[in-house]
Amino acid sequence: MTPEENDLITRVGPGTQGGELLRRYWHPIMGSSELNRRKVIPVRLMGEDLVLFRDQSGKLGLVEPQCAHRRVDLSTGFVVEEGLKCPYHGWTYDTTGQCVAQPGEPADSQLKDRVRIKSYIAEELGGLVFAYMGPLPAPLLPRWDFLVDDGMLRQIGYVIAPFNWLQAIENSYDAVHAEILHGQFFKHALDRRGDPSDAKYEINVAPMLRKHQEIRYDRTDYGFIRRVVLEGDGKSADLFNVGHGKVFPNLTTVNGGGTCTSTFQVPVDDTHTLYLGHRGYRYPDWVTVPKQTEVPWFEIPIKDEKGNWIDDDIVGQDLMVMMAQGPILDRSKEVLGTTDVGVVQFRRFLKEQILKVRDGGEPINLYRDPAKNRRLELPHSKNFYDRGVFGETKAVSYRRGSATGALGMQNSPINELVEDLYEQAARDAPLIGGREAA
Ligand code: FES
Ligand SMILES: [Fe+2]
Repeated sequence: MTPEENDLITRVGPGTQGGELLRRYWHPIMGSSELNRRKVIPVRLMGEDLVLFRDQSGKLGLVEPQCAHRRVDLSTGFVVEEGLKCPYHGWTYDTTGQCVAQPGEPADSQLKDRVRIKSYIAEELGGLVFAYMGPLPAPLLPRWDFLVDDGMLRQIGYVIAPFNWLQAIENSYDAVHAEILHGQFFKHALDRRGDPSDAKYEINVAPMLRKHQEIRYDRTDYGFIRRVVLEGDGKSADLFNVGHGKVFPNLTTVNGGGTCTSTFQVPVDDTHTLYLGHRGYRYPDWVTVPKQTEVPWFEIPIKDEKGNWIDDDIVGQDLMVMMAQGPILDRSKEVLGTTDVGVVQFRRFLKEQILKVRDGGEPINLYRDPAKNRRLELPHSKNFYDRGVFGETKAVSYRRGSATGALGMQNSPINELVEDLYEQAARDAPLIGGREAA
């Protein structure tokens, strides 16, 4: 890869070819619960500073930060019924950026009608606020199954991390790193800490140590499905047969019968990524799941209080290596091997899609027909990450910590509830295959 090609696939700002492709898609930028609490929040997306707000009538706005009057940053403003009000002289902007009030001007002044600031579209789904910054008409906000399904508990962890979005995405097209980073290195981290609990080892490390015997990324309408065969499994195992969905350009999923992990890698600017993990937990029908009024939104820590890497956590390990590649990985200096098949395939496809948009075409995975966008189904394996709750022949069992431990969720307020409900699912499970439930 030449330095020019590296630039092409990593730059995200306005006017860059990569940025133009990424602007064709909706990106999550904030938790709805956080916006409910703060009402006005500065955000940065694809190199552009913006202000996200919810006005008092409940409408979402996403506008450029500078007030048209004397350039005060509107993230210092406050919301009223009709929009976002500048704290300096009260010029007020509605969700389209139109100025609708200028309290200091004479009542018959037409000045406000001529004032409009730049705005983009924002919509909510599944506890997230999504933004669209591309050409109009906008495609529909895709209704992926994990965002729309009822009866799940949800939580969303996020961190703005100092590396380019493509590093984060490439990590998920790199299946084999799990053996080392989340297997051997994890074990080393536990040993080094003298961690006496073997639960982390049994739950997290041991399954990761299995060797990948085959890795494949198959193209689908929405992107790719990753299929792998692990040592001891055949091709009928869910990991190969069902696989994991990789939604172009920047959403990767590991969906099991019990837990859906969906990670968005949102480009904040060339050297920062909003790493955002949406987790949905499903329970069998004999468990009563309390209705969530809000989806928790919490920060994923990158380092601990002493400034050390959080190396006994799978998300912490991923963040560590992505940061350790530098702000923008220089791909012209890499030496790639056979296990990089997914990374190479993704880069090639990304470049193809960038050039398609440059030449006036439409990239893949855009939805414009509401009838086809009711619920977009992704692969869901039954026996991987299902925490034993949905086994078909085995007795139902659950080991506390499986669903929320070592997955970047130190700050989540609902970990205990998630775990309690899985334990309850196992405890109250009916007999399956004539065997006593655990
Ligand atoms: S600077 Fe915003 S109203 Fe004057
Ligand atoms: Fe990883």
